[in-house]
Amino acid sequence: MPPVTPASIRRALLCLPLLALPVLAGCAPEPLPAPGAGEPPPAPMSAVERGRAVAARGCALCHQVLPDLPPAQEVAAPSFMEVANLPGRNRGYLRGFATRRHVVETMGEPKPVMPTFFLSPEEREDVIAFILSYQRPDAPSHAPPEPIEPFE
Ligand code: HEC
Repeated sequence: MPPVTPASIRRALLCLPLLALPVLAGCAPEPLPAPGAGEPPPAPMSAVERGRAVAARGCALCHQVLPDLPPAQEVAAPSFMEVANLPGRNRGYLRGFATRRHVVETMGEPKPVMPTFFLSPEEREDVIAFILSYQRPDAPSHAPPEPIEPFE
């Protein structure tokens, strides 16, 4: 073993970074692939899917909006499955209904306004697409619409 002299210490210290370099390079993580690289881009949400989200947020308090989700409270509101299959419920009818200010009569005081009135035009179209996704092919959607009886 060579004697330890100030010169040998200096030499050792100088070599340290050189030794460390390849080690560091070997440990450097592989650059991560860009998110989603090599995968097809996610499919954009359809109007029905967006409408389902609107319904879950804004309508499920009073309406049954999914077959396995009862409304949060009992207010004599028809389920969206029922609405879609009543006579005359087509896009035009639902647009007309959803753009009018509609006071909910069956819910005590002060009577709430149906939130359809406060939706953006896009949200309204999406929720209508969602309701119509429950329409069966044989639904009488072009028959004259019959009003829903209050307190049914
Ligand atoms: C505060 C309770 C309440 C909320 C919240 C509510 N509704 Fe209603 N909705 C009712 C009631 C009650 C009826 C039954 C008819 C009536 O009151 O005139 C109804 C009826 C309807 C009908 C049937 C209209 C027809 O003539 O066929 C549609 C469509 C409808 N609601 C859509 C919606 C949508 C979309 C939302 C969410 C953005 C919503 N409602 C939120 C209470 C509510």
